[in-house]
This record gives sequence, C-alpha cells and structure tokens, in this order.
Amino acid sequence: MEVDHVAAVPAPVADASHPSRAPFFRYKDVIEEGDLVITYLSQDLMSSIVIDATKTCNNKYGSFSHKDMIGKKYGSKVISKNGKFMHLLFPTPELWTLVLPHRTQILYQPDISFISSYLDLTPGKKMIESGTGSGSFSHSIARSLAPNGHLYSFEYHENRFKQASAEFKSHGIDHLVTVQHRDVCANGFGLNDEVNAVFLDLPSPWEAVGSAKAAFKQNIVGKLCSFSPCIEQVQRTCLALSEHGFTDIIMFEVLVRNHNLRSEPLPTIQTAIQRHANQIAAKDEHEAKKQELRKLQHQQQQQQQQQQQQQQQPELEPSQSPSGSPPSKRARTTAPESDDMKTEIAAGDESQAPQVAAEATAETDLSLRKLTVEELHFRHVTRTPETCRGHTSYLTFATFMPDLSETNDVKPVE
Ligand SMILES: C[S@@+](CC[C@H](N)C(=O)[O-])C[C@H]1O[C@@H](n2cnc3c(N)ncnc32)[C@H](O)[C@@H]1O
Repeated sequence: MEVDHVAAVPAPVADASHPSRAPFFRYKDVIEEGDLVITYLSQDLMSSIVIDATKTCNNKYGSFSHKDMIGKKYGSKVISKNGKFMHLLFPTPELWTLVLPHRTQILYQPDISFISSYLDLTPGKKMIESGTGSGSFSHSIARSLAPNGHLYSFEYHENRFKQASAEFKSHGIDHLVTVQHRDVCANGFGLNDEVNAVFLDLPSPWEAVGSAKAAFKQNIVGKLCSFSPCIEQVQRTCLALSEHGFTDIIMFEVLVRNHNLRSEPLPTIQTAIQRHANQIAAKDEHEAKKQELRKLQHQQQQQQQQQQQQQQQPELEPSQSPSGSPPSKRARTTAPESDDMKTEIAAGDESQAPQVAAEATAETDLSLRKLTVEELHFRHVTRTPETCRGHTSYLTFATFMPDLSETNDVKPVE
C-alpha cells in the first residue's frame, strides 16, 4: 500500500491566517491574493495554484496571469492569450483529492464517502486516522467533524508528517486536525476514552487494534474501519478485532462502476404505429426486390444453358441426344426454383446481385430513419459497462461495544 518511491512535489502553500482564507472550512465567493484555487481545464486536467499577483500559470491551454484572476468569482472562466480558457474552482476536499501532491497512495471518493457514511462522521465527533499519508482522507474527515469535532492523525514517516502538518495549517484546518509523528503499531495511539471512530490505513492494522480499543469512548458505541488492498490483511485484522471483543465485523469489497447518462428516443403510440407501418412497407419492398432478383438470375441461367447446348450440338455423335446427358450434370445446371437461392445468387451475375441486395437492405434500414426528431420524445437513461474492473479496496468495519458489566452509564450511539 505504501509508496515510498513517489517523489514528494511540495504543495502550493496558501496563507490561511486571514479568517476569509480557510478554503476547506469556509466558502468564499471572490478570489483574492493568497487564495488556493483549483484550475480546471477538463476532468483529467486539474491542478492547484495559490494566487500571487506576480506569477503566471502556464499549462497546455496557454499562459494565465494570476493578476487577472484576482477579483473574479470562484467558478468563472479565464481566457489565455491564445483564446483558450480554464475554470477557477473553489477548493473542496473532493477536488483536493484529485490534485494533491502524492506522497503515498491515497483514498479516493468512492472509499471516502462510503467510510464516512458507515463511520457516521458528523459535526462534533472525535476520530483517529492512521497513517496520515498524503492527507487525502484527512480533508474530508475535517469537514465532516467541523466546527467542533477533532481528528487525531498519526504518521510515522517524518517528512510526510511535516508536509501534512504544513498543509493542514495552510488550508486553515489545523484547529480541526492534530498530526502526530508516531509509530502507532509499536507505541499505540496514546489516547484513552477519547474518540467515536477509528480509521486504519496501515500495512499491519491488526497491530493497532488493541490500542484503538482503548482510545474509544468507553461508555458509548464506537465504529472502526480498516482499509486493506489484499484479503490476507483482512483475515488477520478480523481475527484481531474478534479477539479484542469488537462486534458486527463485516467486510465490503469496493468496486467502481461508472453510470453513463444519455438520452434515447421514447416511442409514443403514434410513432410506434408509424414505425411498424414503415417496417412492413420496407419488408414488402425488400421481398419484391428479392423476387425480381430471382427472376433475373433464373433468366440468365436459362440463357447460359441454351448457349452451352448450342455450342455442344455439332460435337454430338448421331446416336447421342441432349436427353442422354448424365442426369447429375443436368440437375446442377438447371436452375432450381427457390430452394438453392443463395447458391444461385452467388453463382449468378455478380455485377447485378450485390447492387440489388444493397438497395433492398438500404430500404429496410430506412424504416427507422423516416421518423423526424420532432416526432420523437426522449428519456434519460443510464448505461453501465458489463464488466466492473475498478477494485479499490477491502473495507473491514467493526463496532466497539461498551463493557456493560463495568458501568451502568452506557449511552446510545451519538
Ligand atoms: C497509504 S498511506 C495513507 C493514505 C491516506 N489514507 C490518504 O488518504 O492520503 C499509509 C501511511 O501510513 C503510514 N504508516 C505505516 N505504518 C505506520 C505506523 N505503524 N504508524 C504510523 N504511520 C504508519 C505510512 O508512512 C503511510 O504514509
């Protein structure tokens, strides 16, 4: 899971000290100096910049001066000197996940939204996350717990810890997230009776389960999730969860399936009748052409036979007559009526046959084209691909239950 070789490109650093500049925490309308902006060229071409009036943003659509962006509303377009444009978007956790500098593998929205919903992340709750990694999930968690909840994030890689801390500060969410430089498998979380939820994205999550148990608020129900890319990790984690008394242990395999929205014509009774009538007419026409083709073939073969017979006549011995020819040959050269029509067409006049057949097919297809756009009503439908390739993860969830034997002060889920 961990990617150590990924070169850490430093994130653009915004100054979130001004109250209006806390992008992930508070929405604002107008772009100012120092703001973080997501530049959107297309769904696959997005990036982040921090507005600095002295700088220019260069990309495949041209050069865009930051100065021209100041005073514009988030969501507006800016145009480069060569006439191409990009949109300036307000940074949300969803967009940040798509543009952030990768220091590790990260969580994407399909997992993030499922985990957030299953862990019931709501304002005011407290949560543990380890490791912090590139901080992709941390931004979404912070928004879910704001304004008065808290995320305790743990990362044992020193550089990642430092970069994540700086990013949370520059994004104005450092009052919602505390990052600690700590090996949670060796040293635990160091928290007791504190949190409502725990999320583990570690190579050996089973080693952190015991410490996670102690970190849960002991008098209410809590939720834990472990993200693992492979099933062996899931098995060991499930064993550890069971040994530590967690309940409702369940694992989901997350697969991404795209739904493509498109419009398709919806037939009315009138258009259905019209279509049916067109089809019948086209079919009749097609049959008539086929009939014509058969006649033509038949005539041509008879002519050929006559010519052959005339050519063979002088060579015949006086004792031989045409009727003495071997029956099999005659049977092959005599045109059958309709049974062997396919063979007939193939052996016939090739210059004529495909032409007639093509005309007949074209006529049949016309039945669908005769309806005008005005006659058709459209409905929106979604189509899904038959195969679903995007395995993203195995998510193991478990419930922490308060120990009913030790306290009577048990609260329901918050
Ligand atoms: C896959 S990344 C997490 C990605 C993160 N969920 C995100 O969305 O950006 C896993 C991180 O866990 C950290 N890690 C691994 N073992 C750890 C441990 N025992 N204690 C703390 N952090 C650990 C790694 O350094 C790595 O940065």
